Amino acid sequence: HPSRAMRGLPLLLCAAVICCTAASQPAPTAAQPRVKFSLRSASHAEEEGCAIAVGQSKCLEDCRFNVTAKTFFIIHGWTVSTDGMFETWLGSLVSALQKREKDANVVVVDWLSLAHQLYTDAVNNTQIVGKSIARLLDWLQENPLFQLEDVHLIGYSLGAHVAGFAGNHVHGRIGRITGLDPAGPMFEGVDPSKRLSPDDANFVDVLHTYTRETLGVSIGIQMPVGHVDIYPNGGDFQPGCGLSIAHLVKCEHERSVHLFVDSLVNQDKQSFAFQCTDSSRFKKGICLSCRKNRCNGIGYNARKTRNKRNSKMYLKTRADMPFKVYHYQMKMHVFSYQGLGEADPTFSVTLYGTNGDSEPLSLEMLDQIGLNATNTFLVYTEKDMGELLKIKLTWEGTSQSWYDLWKELKSYWYRPAKLSQELHVRRIRVKSGETQQRFAFCVEDAQLTRITPGKELWFKSYLMHVAVLDECSQSFRVFWFRFLELLHSKER
Ligand SMILES: *[C@@H]1O[C@H](CO)[C@@H](O)[C@H](O)[C@H]1NC(C)=O
Ligand SMILES: *[C@@H]1O[C@H](CO)[C@@H](O)[C@H](O)[C@H]1NC(C)=O
Ligand SMILES: *[C@@H]1O[C@H](CO)[C@@H](O)[C@H](O)[C@H]1NC(C)=O
Repeated sequence: HPSRAMRGLPLLLCAAVICCTAASQPAPTAAQPRVKFSLRSASHAEEEGCAIAVGQSKCLEDCRFNVTAKTFFIIHGWTVSTDGMFETWLGSLVSALQKREKDANVVVVDWLSLAHQLYTDAVNNTQIVGKSIARLLDWLQENPLFQLEDVHLIGYSLGAHVAGFAGNHVHGRIGRITGLDPAGPMFEGVDPSKRLSPDDANFVDVLHTYTRETLGVSIGIQMPVGHVDIYPNGGDFQPGCGLSIAHLVKCEHERSVHLFVDSLVNQDKQSFAFQCTDSSRFKKGICLSCRKNRCNGIGYNARKTRNKRNSKMYLKTRADMPFKVYHYQMKMHVFSYQGLGEADPTFSVTLYGTNGDSEPLSLEMLDQIGLNATNTFLVYTEKDMGELLKIKLTWEGTSQSWYDLWKELKSYWYRPAKLSQELHVRRIRVKSGETQQRFAFCVEDAQLTRITPGKELWFKSYLMHVAVLDECSQSFRVFWFRFLELLHSKER
């Protein structure tokens, strides 16, 4: 009978794809499990998946769970959506994992009914969900081929702490936990046993993307909670996230997920993070070293290092995928031979490399510029400049608007000394964070080291060998000589 066959067909297909949802469907009166696990297969990333549950070995087989492969668990966070649906990032994370690790089992942990609660109740439920994952892992371990070392829990927001509890309750030690902007409220500063902590797996890595405090609370946890804690853009601001307040919260919190997805799919554009004691030191360009494990990949590419102490790491990113930028440390000795007065110089640099030129990059002054001292800055570019050839240093002048010009003219009239603001720079040293290459740049014309508001100075590259220092000192000697000459001529 054709119509009967037609009716049977979808049922058959259904049975093949989601066998165990049907098999484990309890009588309507029985309580639904509050934590559900579904195995996603590559061809059905956005679908329901195939349900697996403790004790149901047949399901495991029918779902084609590969006991010798890596197993990822994706754990969502607190949710306000009422439609019982996953947030949209979940599908992209599932398919990114499948793309990167072809044989892997990707299990989605569904605790929506326990997460869609008052925040305090959802927090209380994280222990329950963690235990439930631990029970499943203990059952899987009954098969000796299954290795806990191959398990990687990925938890977002509250889900990060769920992962921590799972690691805490399971018999043995989980291979890895990744915390994606772990939730802050009710977890900040609490005992390690009551939150995600380095004790919960062999390797715990964390991305912190929304740690800005509002009314004394931060959505993402500020304190380091793993072996490696990475704070992209300082962890308190994400580029491209400023459209509206509502958008901001979701955008910055969820950025952690997208950075992780990026690390899975854009392997040719891997971002690196650099160890630093705090964000402001990183912004000054002090920390771009890779020695002694001081730099690491981010997201999936992060590696466990032997550092005993927890390490906080930093990087800058673009506003969207691929997030990678190229970091440079600039060291510039600034000479001053007369008082600068009230001047607060703002500089920018333009980099010219074998692969192209950068925009003018402003040098962020966190403190006042150090006179007769070496100043360090961090700049970064979205494009790979290649080998650097030239640098243009620009003193963003006050003489750019008519009003400022007028002010300057007036001050010239009354206080001629004001116009003689000048600094001297003869050398810029640059270090690339990504390649760890060092470049030295000497002022192009050894006799012209002077820079004034609105003016620029060109530097060209010298290969970094002993001759460099001589080259720059040479120009300095010439400069110094001319300076003395000038003094003499004034005295006469
Ligand atoms: C299971 O995973 C292992 C390890 O990744 C792989 O070598 C093997 O081919 C997989 N088996 C199947 C049936 O996909
Ligand atoms: C947490 O849940 C348990 C029951 O699961 C309950 O007894 C306890 O009062 C709850 N705690 C809070 C702070 O809500
Ligand atoms: C910098 O050094 C020069 C030469 O030694 C000196 O004349 C000048 O006063 C110093 N400037 C400051 C701001 O210390």
